[in-house]
Amino acid sequence: MEQITRADCQAMDQNDPLAFLREEFHMPEGLINMDGNSLGALPKSTIQKLEQTIKEEWGIGLIRSWSEAGWFESPIRIGNKIAPLIGAKEGEVLVADTTSINLFKALAAASQMNKDRSILLSEEGNFPTDLYMMQGLSTLSNNRLQTKVVPPEQLLDALTEEVAVLLLTQVNYKTAEIKDMQLITQKAQEKGILVIWDLSHSVGSIEVDLTAANADFAVGCGYKFLNGGPGAPAFIYVPKRHQAIAQNMLSGWMGHADPFAFSEDYQPKASIERFRAGTPVMLGMSALESGVDLFQKTSIAALRKKCIQLSELFIILMRQACGDYGFQLASPTDAAQRAGHVAFSHPEGHAIYQAIKRQQIISDFRTPDILRFGITPMYLRYVDMYDVVAAIQEVMETGAWDRAEFKVRSAIT
Ligand SMILES: Cc1ncc(COP(=O)(O)O)c(C=O)c1O
Repeated sequence: MEQITRADCQAMDQNDPLAFLREEFHMPEGLINMDGNSLGALPKSTIQKLEQTIKEEWGIGLIRSWSEAGWFESPIRIGNKIAPLIGAKEGEVLVADTTSINLFKALAAASQMNKDRSILLSEEGNFPTDLYMMQGLSTLSNNRLQTKVVPPEQLLDALTEEVAVLLLTQVNYKTAEIKDMQLITQKAQEKGILVIWDLSHSVGSIEVDLTAANADFAVGCGYKFLNGGPGAPAFIYVPKRHQAIAQNMLSGWMGHADPFAFSEDYQPKASIERFRAGTPVMLGMSALESGVDLFQKTSIAALRKKCIQLSELFIILMRQACGDYGFQLASPTDAAQRAGHVAFSHPEGHAIYQAIKRQQIISDFRTPDILRFGITPMYLRYVDMYDVVAAIQEVMETGAWDRAEFKVRSAIT
């Protein structure tokens, strides 16, 4: 097969209908962010938006900005902007808190709705915070609720009538494998189980249709593909059909039907806003909103198409240039089953990840041996795929990865 050259990749960039989107981002010269699945890049508009929020809305508007700058409604306003990205309807998505906290809210509400049942079910390999939140809720219930975590291949058999809630992540954080949301939700619901989907690695990357899947709850991250900034607020999805019965156990004053009545008895709002707890973190909300607004310039279908093209190119180039160095593709080979990152396993994965970071390539490492490369079509170019693979090749060819300094395990990977 003919070798793909750097010039070929540059030609692909020239024909890229989404190339204009890169201009929207702050892109430090010479650095390639292959970790947008962990922390998205900084949109230029966010710098202006935060300046406005800080100088005008906070500096001058002060407390008036809760009403005059739209701060108070921001959780629902931004939620309504995220809704079309995940197949939700208006009034079904709320931006608040962190993904972990929203997981807890969803788990607590769903287990209360199915209170004659006792099992919180998930699968091995789910993101740890999902499992930890189940464990915390089990402890809080004095072990009335029991967690059950099964190997993925046993999941469908584990859908029994004792299960109250099934919690799954749609896109696996290590391998990027996409689960069949519609099929699993249907099988679980046939047994009366309520299903919560963690969309942290899906939202802004792949097409998601919560309505078609009839999902019961969902949560997701703002700082990955939505480019909402470090520690950006997260979101929770509750379909209209559950909003009157689903209870927010973190029943803070902002979810009250009339927070400024300062009643001493909790009465939840009749809408998704009952899933608010406390005061929105406005600097984070502002940054997230400008990240989410960028999605109005394109469509998830167009982004997904380019993501697949970039990922396929990356995998071919890795085979072409690094085929002899012991990398194993840890993501599905079928592009339709693989979401927004490509994972390779390598026994020296950690040292290689550190060595390429020295060459201005940001990726990440997941224990025990996974190198993850985020494929974010909004700002990555075809030529970036070439340059990243060339840097990996150089690190392998010269043995640069084999330095003592790269063998020291960093606390954060
Ligand atoms: C699937 C999944 N859920 C949740 C989280 C993180 O939750 P939080 O934002 O609360 O730290 C991550 C972070 O990478 C994740 O991959």
